[in-house]
Amino acid sequence: MGLSDSARAALDATARAMLAARYVTALAGAGMSAESGIPTFRGPGGLWTKYGAPDNRGYQQFLEDPRGWWERRLNGNQMPEMREALDRAQPNPGHHALVELEDAGVLRHTVTQNVDNLHRAAGSRSISEIHGNHTLIRCVACVSRFEREEIPLDELPPMCSRCGGLLKTDTVMFGEPIPPDVLRACQTEAARSDCVLILGTSAIVYPAAALPDVARRLNDATLIEINPNETALTDACSIVVRAPTGEALPELVAAIRRLRGDTRSMAGVPDAT
Ligand code: APR
Repeated sequence: MGLSDSARAALDATARAMLAARYVTALAGAGMSAESGIPTFRGPGGLWTKYGAPDNRGYQQFLEDPRGWWERRLNGNQMPEMREALDRAQPNPGHHALVELEDAGVLRHTVTQNVDNLHRAAGSRSISEIHGNHTLIRCVACVSRFEREEIPLDELPPMCSRCGGLLKTDTVMFGEPIPPDVLRACQTEAARSDCVLILGTSAIVYPAAALPDVARRLNDATLIEINPNETALTDACSIVVRAPTGEALPELVAAIRRLRGDTRSMAGVPDAT
């Protein structure tokens, strides 16, 4: 399909803005993982478009009957396509491009709304998963996190070995507060940013959607949207790249390499060729 001329021009402007900035961060959404085969939530083919968005009582219902919640989770098969996609998905060129930008010191931090673990699988290190990570189990009391394999599920509900609190999946449910440690990290990163890439998100779920505006209010940050479609933040963005992230982000890496006159790879190591 290839990128349009306007998308290429917008990517060149993005590269210049990122190299001129002091502290660049990214806010990622489900669109980042669309090219990994994971359905988005809204828009055509979205999970909430298909099933309707979960109601805000999910977390309350968990607290009222944690055993029942775990039994339904372990025996149920809600949204089978999401479960299968999560288990099968691999990082796509968009995820790998973010790792190259991080290795090159151009991208300082990524806040992702995605629970699919694909940024970590690609190698992102400076990352906050504001809606959690589906491979982890979290204590609702002390916020300790455990690998799924660490937690025996013969007794339901599982209880925290550190504080005796209730354990649930790390994925943040509708109606559940964002865990305080990760919320604080996201707000700190937004407050440091003077350039924010807004990648594949409809930008309508808070507090994640408020983060770019924190950067703009505090630092007059340049907001840059990479998304095939308009979003709630399009009007606030100085640069808009109307393209899929899996195609646009590798081109962004190339544009930055050109601007830096890098014949080496982005991480400063001479290319093999
Ligand atoms: N590349 C980039 N963006 C894409 C692509 C792609 N290949 N395909 C789709 N998109 C865009 C869509 O245009 C849309 O703007 O991805 C966005 C997906 O929006 P949503 O489905 O609303 O996903 P997201 O913004 O991440 O939702 C936020 O809502 O339900 C909660 O917890 C859930 O984390 C999720 C949050």
